Amino acid sequence: MTMKLGVCYYPEQWDEALWADDARRMKAMGLSTVRIAEFAWGLMEPRPGEYDWGWLDRAIEVLANEGLEVVMCTPTGAPPHWLSKQHPDIHAIDADGHVKAFGSRRHYDFSSDAFFEASRTIVTALAERYGRHPAVVAWQTDNEYGCHGTITSYSPDALRRFRLWLAERYDHDIGKLNTAWGHAFWSMQYASFEDIGFPVHTAAPPNPSHQFAWKRFGSDEVLRYNRLHVDLLREHAPGVPVLHNFMAFSGDFEHHAMGKDLDIASWDNYPLGFLDAMSFLDDEDRLRYRRVGHPDISAFHHDLYRGLTAQGRWWVMEQQPGPVNWAKWNPVPQPGMVRAWTWEAFAHGAEVVSYFRWRQAPFAQEQMHTGLNTPDNVIAVGGEEAAVVAGELASVPDEDSRPARVALIVDYASNWATEILPNSGDFEIGALQLAWYGALRKLGLDVDVLPQSADLRAYSLVVAPTLALPSEAFVASLQAFEGQVLLGPRCGAKADEIRIPEGLPPGPLRALLPGLRVTAVEGLRPGVALAADGALLGATITRWREMLDPAGLDVESRFADGSPALVKHGRVRYLAGWLTGMGLDALVSSVAQETGLPVGLPLPEGLRLRRRGNIQFAIHY
Ligand code: GAL
Repeated sequence: MTMKLGVCYYPEQWDEALWADDARRMKAMGLSTVRIAEFAWGLMEPRPGEYDWGWLDRAIEVLANEGLEVVMCTPTGAPPHWLSKQHPDIHAIDADGHVKAFGSRRHYDFSSDAFFEASRTIVTALAERYGRHPAVVAWQTDNEYGCHGTITSYSPDALRRFRLWLAERYDHDIGKLNTAWGHAFWSMQYASFEDIGFPVHTAAPPNPSHQFAWKRFGSDEVLRYNRLHVDLLREHAPGVPVLHNFMAFSGDFEHHAMGKDLDIASWDNYPLGFLDAMSFLDDEDRLRYRRVGHPDISAFHHDLYRGLTAQGRWWVMEQQPGPVNWAKWNPVPQPGMVRAWTWEAFAHGAEVVSYFRWRQAPFAQEQMHTGLNTPDNVIAVGGEEAAVVAGELASVPDEDSRPARVALIVDYASNWATEILPNSGDFEIGALQLAWYGALRKLGLDVDVLPQSADLRAYSLVVAPTLALPSEAFVASLQAFEGQVLLGPRCGAKADEIRIPEGLPPGPLRALLPGLRVTAVEGLRPGVALAADGALLGATITRWREMLDPAGLDVESRFADGSPALVKHGRVRYLAGWLTGMGLDALVSSVAQETGLPVGLPLPEGLRLRRRGNIQFAIHY
């Protein structure tokens, strides 16, 4: 496996006289791949059906002449104005009925037939032209599905397709839907699929089953749309890998399902932007890490996206080269961090780290977003650090990333189920996942972040911070699993359609924890902190706790009121509350030691280790 550097480049935004020099300097900086064209539909097809490939032909040629490899993108993230005029119905509509206007990007509706067909036409034309071009080494579909909250649209097309989706799911039998969603409650029965609307603007909350179906439908629409691109690319660009660039903490569609349609997963890494934008981080961390980023956020996503495709191939498609423009506060990275983030991605197995963007634009929405070069074309700090990494790459052998011994399970549908009925003001799944992940990484362990469908046999420890909807297959694979299992709060809390599972939570997980019943749950308001004894002595439970009937299980810790906080059966533990901080670190450490994992003292603050093949990397935040 190779380790290469790349860059995102917008030849259409610059005078053509600059291109050759740009390409020469990219090469001199040690870059190998150049991603282009993801927002250039309007220049490729300036008028409906009239294509202008001349500029793109020349741009590719200039890059290829320097030996640079091109990553071509389908340009659908920024539909041109003529399409809006021709088909106003391509525009997405928000829940309040406002049309997402032209004048920016991502204004399209995944359910619009007109947009689907217009996409088919431009992707076909583009793929026919460049599908077999020797300089094009990979294709990106669209750009960051879901960015700016654009998965759902409350349009007539979306409503029509939602009803069809429901009819198919419930065998065209509205009675089945009424039963599955519990419509005896509040007289919510429908007589026909045509009666069903969007789950918004009700006087009291809409039915959670309705919301869940809407969420799944939205996800399926994105998968369907992406498949259109993938199928056309497979046809016209045979053998060329197809990828998409995903985002951090984005859970609005089933990423693992999309991963099955791709050859390579990629994601966009903006460590300082995330630090500011992720609502669940606390202010202390924000201040402490303001110029370096949070030590677990990038790594968590590297490990998540490595697990997305069959071969585990993944890239960082965009990486912050300096300050970004989109967070509330946009600090300058500490000197050395662009280099450190790049090496961290390689340590976690990235094939390519590609910077966003080559040169800062002096105009339009992102003029305050830095690039590897300043707007007046002088190499910026990020460009200097990229060149340093390029030099270092030559002396580091290529090693494949090996599977870790610890698996952390993430499940998109489970997250939706919990978010739809949170039952607590601050059960923030991202924060919980990050805390569990961080507890493992502070011990120096490598972690694979995986879907519940993953083959777990090679692992020694499986942890699920929370997992409302464990599948039968997941339960079966845990039954066959020989290592330790640590399950967090709300695992098995729901059955499909969002119902309370038979025999109470943890539902099907009772196969691993015989007799266990979660008899009540409690959202704890800020300021409430519960102590526990035994294995959790010294830990505090905040935000969420559960009352357990432990049946005959071993109780390793109890709350002060005597109710079990941690129960165990054989190799499987269930934790009945929200545990983060030092208490979680201690629990994870003792479970890892019991598993026989090589665990020493916790690493010093901000230091993380990662192995790639025989190389051990140390990244200091
Ligand atoms: C990403 C996006 C890019 C650019 C970048 C700025 O989310 O894919 O097109 O907008 O952010 O940081």
